[in-house]
Amino acid sequence: MTFKLSDKHIEEYHMLGYTIFNKILPPLLIRDLRRVTDKAREIARAEDGPQVQRLEPVADYDIDQQPFTDYAELPELVDAIAKVLTVRHRHGARDGLAILFEPGQIPYCTEWHRDWRDNASGLKLSMWDEVFSDLYFFNQINCALYEDSCTWFVPGSHLRRDVSGEIERFPDRPIAGPDLQDKTAEERERLCLEYCRSMPGGVQLHLEAGDFALYRNTLWHIGNYVPYRKRATLHDRADTPEFLAWREKATEEARRQRDAGIDMENPNFATG
Ligand SMILES: [Fe+2]
Repeated sequence: MTFKLSDKHIEEYHMLGYTIFNKILPPLLIRDLRRVTDKAREIARAEDGPQVQRLEPVADYDIDQQPFTDYAELPELVDAIAKVLTVRHRHGARDGLAILFEPGQIPYCTEWHRDWRDNASGLKLSMWDEVFSDLYFFNQINCALYEDSCTWFVPGSHLRRDVSGEIERFPDRPIAGPDLQDKTAEERERLCLEYCRSMPGGVQLHLEAGDFALYRNTLWHIGNYVPYRKRATLHDRADTPEFLAWREKATEEARRQRDAGIDMENPNFATG
């Protein structure tokens, strides 16, 4: 059955900060993408070891690019993104497209974070505050080629600053992950899951093969990974020229701040 966009997708995106285009990739495209991402996994592990999380950007590697072009030009996807956002939001830019993989050996998770605020050392929070609610910025994509339950969100958190339960849970910057030192694989898996669940309001996203999750990466989110579940998920943006210009400026500003010895600002100490 062909994917059909509904008003619910648009409402969800704005209210919750994410929506899923279920089974929008046709099976033949999933097959082609699985073939090239198997090769990509081999390349990434040869380059960065068995625990490598991603290969990025796909354009820089000697793998068949045609399936990524087919993904970027898929009319149903172009149309759905244009209706949820605008015709100026484009996905599939090869210089930004990444593939996310399962770890080869042991479980781990990222820290809970809101992109560019909690994982961009040196960036002034005032720069993030100015644009965090702007729909031309911060639209991210996870498109699953296999079942993928790695991502967790706090729905609706993209609409606001942190609430008291979040501030109490993560008062410090940088945000600490779970303590996985000297733990077995099974202990690591348990600790990571408990860490995901420790966030008030956190929910686990479940994607099936061919599902496309569009989300505001300004909402609280996390990735939690186990080696026994195969993963190849396209990690992408619905990008705009405005956001590209902002990222370049933000990266430069953050570098200047770090050179001046200024690290990560803590939003819990902000006065604004
Ligand atoms: Fe993130």
